[in-house]
Amino acid sequence: ADPRLIDTFGRVATDLRISLTDRCNLRCTYCMPAEGLDWMPREEQLTDEELLRLIRIAVHDLGIRELRFTGGEPLLRRGLEDLIAAAAALEPRPDISLTTNGVGLARRAQALADAGVNRLNVSMDTLRPERFVTITRRDRLSDVLDGLAAARAAGLKPIKINTVLLRGVNDDEAVDLLRFAVDNGYELRFIEQMPLDAQHGWQRSEMITAGEILQLLEQGFTLTPDPTERGGAPAERWLVDGGPAVVGVIASVTRPFCGACDRTRLTADGQVRTCLFARTETDLRGLLRGGATDAEIADAWRAAMWGKLAGHGIDEPGFLQPDRPMSAIGG
Ligand code: GTP
Ligand code: 5AD
Ligand code: SF4
Repeated sequence: ADPRLIDTFGRVATDLRISLTDRCNLRCTYCMPAEGLDWMPREEQLTDEELLRLIRIAVHDLGIRELRFTGGEPLLRRGLEDLIAAAAALEPRPDISLTTNGVGLARRAQALADAGVNRLNVSMDTLRPERFVTITRRDRLSDVLDGLAAARAAGLKPIKINTVLLRGVNDDEAVDLLRFAVDNGYELRFIEQMPLDAQHGWQRSEMITAGEILQLLEQGFTLTPDPTERGGAPAERWLVDGGPAVVGVIASVTRPFCGACDRTRLTADGQVRTCLFARTETDLRGLLRGGATDAEIADAWRAAMWGKLAGHGIDEPGFLQPDRPMSAIGG
């Protein structure tokens, strides 16, 4: 039998996304309330040892080739650099990436690069300090900008910036953000907002669509389709003024890419989710702590993958937002 993670639609998961903590040091309005959330109790979270065992099974037995560490905010996980170094020591060595809000990155970028981070994605929705406070409820824009610069100085490449545009808040900044990214050698991607906020306040009519994003950008740039192969990547890429700079648009809602999805996910408390929007989870932590063998854990993961649904179903009648918010699933 094929040892890999395969579903009934023939998709193969080779990309494991791991949420290292549900905590965050920002409070983005489209993600969580000002007071934060009821954070996961420490004892429910996987220890480093437990997590590394699951990563080893994924890489050695299930054909996972890429690891992405997310949160919440992954830099808040103690010992992150050691975890990354241990993952980077596996054979075959997985590609390792990190999705962070950039706060605290400035003093850790070099250590992260040294530990084995290959690629870095930083979330930044505005270049204006007052707006940053409005969106994230924290006055940390300069930290994020310093973090980006430090990551570049540490030789991390590519560095991608993820931006969510919010109607009436920062949707007049698309051109400025892209200009900043192009001038500094970062790859900007605009993300359609998805129904994953803790407050369950998402409304389709409020979302800035990929179509609107492209219209906004065309006020400052000429965009042509990037001819390079997209593969399973969520971003559709465009050459900016003929290239080589590119801009990405992640149109999860209006142009879903679920058919090419190559992901499986692990939450900080050791649950496998086959999709951001999955309605069920598979409890690997229970297996681990119950004394299961590697082979039993691998089988449970394969069985979970076999149950992966065709798509997120946001546009289908009866769609229900998942119980866990984005911050507890991993971005
Ligand atoms: P790379 O292109 O390899 O850098 O990865 P990525 O684009 O998946 O990385 P990142 O973690 O920065 O994700 C960017 C955004 O894509 C996330 O914030 C989500 O909005 C969206 N996204 C990531 N994974 C999924 C997914 O499985 N499904 C959907 N619909 N959107 C996703
Ligand atoms: N829809 C789309 N993207 C989101 N992010 C957080 N919440 C949502 C949402 N509901 C983004 C963050 C960050 C990345 C990890 O996910 O802005 O860039
Ligand atoms: Fe934190 Fe990311 Fe949520 Fe913002 S979007 S509050 S950075 S987890």
